[in-house]
Amino acid sequence: MNIKEIVKDIFYVGVNDRVKHRFEALWQLPYGVSYNSYIVAGNEKLALIDTVCIEEVRQYFNNIGSIASDRTIDYLVVNHMEPDHSASIPEIVMAYPDIRIVGNSKTIEMIKGFYHIDGPDRYLEVKDGDSIDLGGRTLRFYLTPMVHWPETMMTHVEDARVLFSGDAFGTFGALNGAVIDRDMETDVHISEMYRYYSCIVGKYGRFVEKAIQKLAALPLSYICPTHGPVWNEKITEVVELVARLAAYKSEPGVVIVYGSMYGNTAEVAEMIAREIAALGIKRIIMHNASHSDMSCMITDAFRYSTLIVGSATYSMRLFPEVESFMNAMETREIKNKVFATFSNFTWAAGAVTGKLKEYAERMKLPVSASLLVKQSAGASTPVEVKEFALQVVEAMKTMEEA
Ligand code: FEO
Repeated sequence: MNIKEIVKDIFYVGVNDRVKHRFEALWQLPYGVSYNSYIVAGNEKLALIDTVCIEEVRQYFNNIGSIASDRTIDYLVVNHMEPDHSASIPEIVMAYPDIRIVGNSKTIEMIKGFYHIDGPDRYLEVKDGDSIDLGGRTLRFYLTPMVHWPETMMTHVEDARVLFSGDAFGTFGALNGAVIDRDMETDVHISEMYRYYSCIVGKYGRFVEKAIQKLAALPLSYICPTHGPVWNEKITEVVELVARLAAYKSEPGVVIVYGSMYGNTAEVAEMIAREIAALGIKRIIMHNASHSDMSCMITDAFRYSTLIVGSATYSMRLFPEVESFMNAMETREIKNKVFATFSNFTWAAGAVTGKLKEYAERMKLPVSASLLVKQSAGASTPVEVKEFALQVVEAMKTMEEA
């Protein structure tokens, strides 16, 4: 049982999931994931903060029971309604029939829609800044919409300096025994935070920035997210990491994503990488879009300053895996990048170049360099690649100096 008292009368009662292959049926989970839930025990009332995925509900009830014992749960605070946190709400309501569900107007509408739970006095609707007194412990609620759903909010326990942050500052990776960052090695969780943010929250950077600004003045010793470790020692590090990603601030580096059917586009990708390396760039990451996991490509594109996308021509369109990647980039409103393209064609010159240009225009990404190769690399290609690499590296330097 993964139980931990974080500070006096505030307990972790979450669960691990080492079974699911893909989070949201999309994103691989090589290290599993945790669904975090917490109990805040006042002298008079007990509050449960968020719930867990339905598959782990049995373990969840064991965890709750070991803390609550024969006390009832008076409140269920729902900071976020995505079903990985809300799916156990009906079970909680069945187990604690008098429980009051605490949420904002959007939360309550979603619970009724997802789970058809109603009844007099079932809900306690809160607005920004409202609070609940548990007897010696006060929960205060801050609305932080679109981090990353419309109803998202956070709950602060001022005297304990604890913030329940929902998905914000969350990360993939199950909890291997310890719960608080100071009691574990967090290398994997910090690394997975890039992937979690880029894939799950990525599109909503401006709302994340607003939330960080809004909560900046709160006294904080612990951030308790709904996934991953409870942050204590590393609060500054993780808040800065998320703030950087939310502002689309990049680290120097080149990411080359390409799609190739018979190796001709891949050969050009290798030539580009060699020329860029020869110009002194050390961090170069290459992804064959047919081979790499989508979540890793998205993460690297988020993290590093320069994105080069190459595609074979496939029935006048982008190679399908590259098109999926570009759709993911556009969905996440990727910006502040050096962007360059290369394409390969057999008879439809310019079809793919045009498609990549359309993405760039919609995303407001200037194209720093573009290269077109017919059928396979020929006599002129090395010179063209050298010029392409020079243009890319020049654009990187300009961006770094800006
Ligand atoms: Fe972990 Fe947005 O749910």
